[in-house]
This record gives sequence, structure tokens and C-alpha cells, in this order.
Amino acid sequence: MVKVRKAVIPAAGLGTRFLPATKAMAKEMLPIVDKPTIQFIVEEAIASGIEDILIVTGKSKRSIEDHFDSNIELEEHLRQQGKNDLLDLIKQTANLNLYFVRQPYPKGLGHAVLQAKAFVGNEPFVVMLGDDIMEDEVPLTKQLIDVYDQTHASNIAVMEVPHEETSKYGIIAPERQLDDGVYNVERFVEKPKPEEAPSNLAIIGRYLLTPEIFTILENQQPGAGNEIQLTDAIDTLNKTQRVFAKRFDGKRYDVGSKIGFMEMSIEYGLKHPQISQDLKELIKDLGHRLENEE
Ligand code: UTP
Repeated sequence: MVKVRKAVIPAAGLGTRFLPATKAMAKEMLPIVDKPTIQFIVEEAIASGIEDILIVTGKSKRSIEDHFDSNIELEEHLRQQGKNDLLDLIKQTANLNLYFVRQPYPKGLGHAVLQAKAFVGNEPFVVMLGDDIMEDEVPLTKQLIDVYDQTHASNIAVMEVPHEETSKYGIIAPERQLDDGVYNVERFVEKPKPEEAPSNLAIIGRYLLTPEIFTILENQQPGAGNEIQLTDAIDTLNKTQRVFAKRFDGKRYDVGSKIGFMEMSIEYGLKHPQISQDLKELIKDLGHRLENEE
């Protein structure tokens, strides 16, 4: 049986929701307390059994490559200072099987994924977006791989969202539910208006795709927002081979939005051994202050 070994992380978007911070720096490097968001994604891939990861980058994304490289001067400095815990921490991200390719123009997510064609070859693979950080007992990427192992077909992670928010997402028209929150899908629609949305099951940032997607992406015309949309290519793929949807029931942090980013920062901080106690105190004080202001 074919094993899913490869992941593609598109990280070439412009990050306009985080301007001015992202004018000169990659939004994927914004830290949740002390860890860049993209590191959470790489860790999910590894925890799911992925062996090789391709990061699609673009302008202003140099720091992503540096983060996953060694930093000999810093290592030497920490060694001399006897800061071995920090030394271990920075070395964790230096020896992974990571590859990089550039997307020359930000023409859309579908176009970013197309840059992975040579890396992926003729294997099934996963696409993981850095805007969504997922928490569940079994990592979401592993859940998609488990569905693939049973069906040998593409499957896309979806989650219920408030109906008025459908225009922010790719939305599925489910046909019928099979076991374990796995759906047959009739159609995939990118960013439909709420009154036109066929459901409130939204595509979230994890996709398991068969390599036939590349031939479709090569011929894909721009769609919503005049961008080459991955959702449109998936809808075409679904016409020639089965593409399932897998419902995610865990916790999703939309760290591509300011409020989702704050939410995850607070939750992660509350679990962080160095700051959890102080942060709890801070939040309590803040709560009292806000109550008094009301
Ligand atoms: P978004 O449109 O949400 O991300 O794309 P963005 O452009 O970075 O951010 P905003 O909306 O302007 O704040 C979803 C994902 O697809 C990648 C992005 O990096 C993000 O992970 N992407 C998007 C590309 O890699 N290339 C593109 O041309 C477009």
C-alpha cells in the first residue's frame, strides 16, 4: 500500500491581515509566546508520520529558511554560556527533512500548491496551511492519512462554521455522511455568500490529495478573488475520482486572524511552564479591571 510521506506547507501569501507586521517579515514567523506558528505545523506533520516537508515561500520569507537551519554562532554562544536547554531547543528545528521552493507571484493557493509538483511526484500528499493550528488527541493530518489508508482517495478536512461566515471559506455540498464524520461530497465551492452556501461545513487548512490534482491545477483558471483556487481544482478532481470530506471535531485556532492569534497565544501561554502562573494572575487582574470599568 502507498504510504503518505510528503507534506506541502504553502507560506507565500502576503499576510495582509497582519500589516504592518508582515510588511518585511513572514507572518508564519509570528510567535505564539515563543514558537513561530509554522513550527506548530511542522510538528503536526512529524507527529502524523510525515517524512519530507516542502515549504512554498516567496518574498520576505527568508527567516523561515533560517529558522529551520542551524545557527552555528548562536549554538557556540549558548554552549560557552552553559545554556544547554536553550541549545537543545534551537537544535530541534535544524535537522528536519525540509525543502523549499519559491512561488514567484502570489497567484493563489492553487498556484502555490502547483509549485510542489516535482517534489511530490506520483504520490498522495498532504497540504497544511499555517493559518490554522489544530488541537486534538490524534493530529488532524494523521486523521486524514487514516481515511486515505481506508479509501485510497483524496480527503479534505472540514468543520462547521457560523453560517454567516461561509464567504471566508471553501464550503462543501455534502452528499451523505458515511462513518466517522466522513462525507461524500457533491460539490466544493470557494467563498460562497451565506445565501448561496450549500452548507456550513467549511474547508479548514488540511488536505490530503492524490497527485492527479497537478494536471488540473496546471489548467486551472483564476476564480474567487482572481486567484487560482485550490478548492476549484478539488471540485474538478471530484468529478473524476472520489474526494471525501473528513469532519474535524477538535479545537481549531484561526491564527491567520488577529483575534484567533490572540486566543491561541493566551491558551498556549496558560500551558507554558515559564509563564502560566504569572499569566493567570495577569488575566485575573485584567478581568477585575474590566469589570470595574463597565
Ligand atoms: P490566505 O489568503 O489566507 O493568506 O491564504 P495570506 O495571503 O497570507 O493572508 P491574508 O489573508 O492576506 O492575511 C491561505 C494560505 O495560502 C498561502 C498563504 O501563505 C496561506 O498559508 N498562499 C496564498 C500562498 O502560499 N500563495 C498564494 O498565492 C496565496
